[in-house]
Amino acid sequence: MTVCEAPGKVYLFGEHAVVYGEPAVPAAIERRARVTVEPRADDHVRVTAADLSLDGFTVEYAGTVDDPPDVNVPASLVDAAMGYVDAAVRQARAAADAPDAGFDITVESDIPLGAGLGSSAAVVVAGIDAATRALGVPLDRRELADRAYRAEFEVQDGQASRADTFCSTMGGAVRVAGDDCESIDAPSLPFVIGFDGGAGDTGALVAGVRALREEHDFAADTVASIGDLVREGETLLADADPTVSPSSELLDGLGELMDFNHGLLAALGVSARSLDSMVWAAREAGAHGAKLTGAGGGGCIVALDPSPETPTALSFTQGCVEAFRAELATDGVRVVEP
Ligand code: MEV
Repeated sequence: MTVCEAPGKVYLFGEHAVVYGEPAVPAAIERRARVTVEPRADDHVRVTAADLSLDGFTVEYAGTVDDPPDVNVPASLVDAAMGYVDAAVRQARAAADAPDAGFDITVESDIPLGAGLGSSAAVVVAGIDAATRALGVPLDRRELADRAYRAEFEVQDGQASRADTFCSTMGGAVRVAGDDCESIDAPSLPFVIGFDGGAGDTGALVAGVRALREEHDFAADTVASIGDLVREGETLLADADPTVSPSSELLDGLGELMDFNHGLLAALGVSARSLDSMVWAAREAGAHGAKLTGAGGGGCIVALDPSPETPTALSFTQGCVEAFRAELATDGVRVVEP
């Protein structure tokens, strides 16, 4: 039995624009997906999932899933979860040159599905790591991140950047622009997350931005402006001392850029009433800045506030079902049981 776990993430800046080669800065957070893998004697794959904001389900298949699990959640969420696990299995089989390898897989996660916190990337990263280790062919982190990206790329019909999977593999804050991925120094930022209990459809949201960008020059300019603000944010982070608590001047600077980023994402049509109201609740509570995180459409916002004001305000905001602090996860994927 091999067990690996990988963190979720928030986007400090740059989601969506990163799909077009602009830079993005995601940061890993201490909410993890844990994947347990046991090789089987046959070529079947049996997946048991728990805590995926689902009631939990078990699916056994050889090639295709014939009987969808009987669970009290939208079929699209189950399909999405299964699609990512399936793609991770294909990558692990290819990496180990073991096309007929079968597995019993258990997925547990405290990252809500499809909510902008990188749940699918964390499941894919931990899944490929555990499955390749179980087959005796552990991958180095760069190859693991690359294979996890290919799995997401396949499930999201070619509309994925390397940001989520690289961040979940490496941990900490990272900078991703096209194929260039690197870890960057960042102080531990006071992230507060608000969750509306919902989920967005990443593929549909990315396709919507693509259509707008192709139709209107001003939408293409909006995407480019997101890239400009990310570059400003990178300069602020590069000038900061990562070993001390962030100054309120730094938080003000980053927060202003986050506010701007949220406005540009809203202009691209990927915000939602629940996300806007959580963003405004955070700002009115005195957060340095707030924005949606991830693909949008529903899910989570991230705000910067070291005080208790923002979590308290969010917990009283209509449409917010959970508000919590998230620590930076300095470790990326890690082995719980070799
Ligand atoms: C989704 O978490 C982030 C997007 O930028 C898509 C991607 O980067 O693959 C919307």
